Amino acid sequence: MKVSAHAVARMLGTWQEGPGPTHQRLSDRLRLLVLDGRLSLGSVLPSERDLATALSTSRTTVGAAYRTLVDQRYVATRARARATVRLPDDPSPERGRTAGSAAIDLSFAAPPAPVEILHTAFATALEQLPRHFERHGYDRYGIAELREAVADWYRRRNLPTAPDHILITNGAQHALALLARTLLSPRDRVLIDHPTYPHAISTFTEARARLLAVAVTPSGWDTAQLQEAARNAQLAYLIPDFHNPTGLCMPTSVRAGLRLACPTVIDETMTDLALDGTSPEPFALHMPTAISIGSVSKSIWGGLRIGWIRATPSLLERVQQTRHATDLGTPVVEQLATAVLLNEHQTRRPSTLRQLRSQRDVLRAALTENLPEVQAPRPPGGVTLWATFPEPISSRLAAIAPDHGVTIAAGPRFGIGGAFERNIRLPYTLPPDQLGQAIDRLARAQRALARGVTGTHTPAPVA
Ligand SMILES: Cc1ncc(COP(=O)(O)O)c(C=O)c1O
Repeated sequence: MKVSAHAVARMLGTWQEGPGPTHQRLSDRLRLLVLDGRLSLGSVLPSERDLATALSTSRTTVGAAYRTLVDQRYVATRARARATVRLPDDPSPERGRTAGSAAIDLSFAAPPAPVEILHTAFATALEQLPRHFERHGYDRYGIAELREAVADWYRRRNLPTAPDHILITNGAQHALALLARTLLSPRDRVLIDHPTYPHAISTFTEARARLLAVAVTPSGWDTAQLQEAARNAQLAYLIPDFHNPTGLCMPTSVRAGLRLACPTVIDETMTDLALDGTSPEPFALHMPTAISIGSVSKSIWGGLRIGWIRATPSLLERVQQTRHATDLGTPVVEQLATAVLLNEHQTRRPSTLRQLRSQRDVLRAALTENLPEVQAPRPPGGVTLWATFPEPISSRLAAIAPDHGVTIAAGPRFGIGGAFERNIRLPYTLPPDQLGQAIDRLARAQRALARGVTGTHTPAPVA
């Protein structure tokens, strides 16, 4: 795939700042884009001349940067062919390890399964399964039991909902992909929170949409900016409930006053993870046209792969028409088990919320002790801290951290245009001892970076 000079310039953001020769800063930034997955393997880079024009720099600078990347084996060139992104082979055997211990994974923000509760739900599901055997098992909208259980989850939160307003999907990510395919055309503009959930960015980019990013700052959402951006957008995608990655929750006053002029998808994946108060009211109470997506991945277990869309029956009909191209339904046993879990109100378990609260405290205390210059406000819910370093080191830290036994998700993955180089997302879903060790290792990685050591690790998958 060819990447345009303007797209590369956008991804580079403000690359000119910093010490060292210009061509070296450029090659460093391009290398980080490769390591971070924003320039994907096999991408064809723009010509030296086009990139120099887009960056308002000299062709000599771009030529020198490209040559460095060829020498470092991040770019392949063949006679008369354009430069193509690759990765050096033969990684060092020490990659991903510190002496004698396995890497701690801080790139996934998802809690482990509640084992006994899941066992019991699956045992009940297996008892109920035979009543589905007479039918073919392809339920385009999901099985009736689960559609009713999800509708009831909304009704318990005071939002009247009938089962025919629910379509079951294979997780919230699948719900978003189906909606993108149904509602978007190439070059449509999509309003997103900035930062936002990385796979939402990939979904909209793959749909060839253009992104209109509206900042979510430590003080939250800006109603005027959202409304202004929505006037130029064909779709909005917001995460108002314990936003990923910041953990912020949109206040009722903002929800109640928000008037968006385009169809709006509200991601409620984190809704049940209120740590300091009650869960927020459903967004659709204030905006009845909102299309809501949800999931049990964070409140129960990601391995269930069950999510849903709440929308009008006519929109759901269009969604299920597009679904045939990729999948023909959701496994019945998982749906039955999730219906059991929802009917038993297992998405808000006091013991799990207590544990998350305490892990949130442990993680913040470990940061204060090991990385005191890092700011990490206490989020009211969700499963992540959004940590801010004084320096823009996030991608370089993510590339070196596995050498010290920890993997992290770099800030720029949560944004566009190279933003958030000072941020990393830190989940508090691991046990306290692992969180403490992970931050100790991260501090070591940061010290190595300060000594001038560089890492070469490619980005870890995130969720
Ligand atoms: C905001 C948000 N939306 C969607 C998803 C994807 O959820 P699922 O596992 O249900 O596909 C996640 C997972 O991290 C998320 O944080």
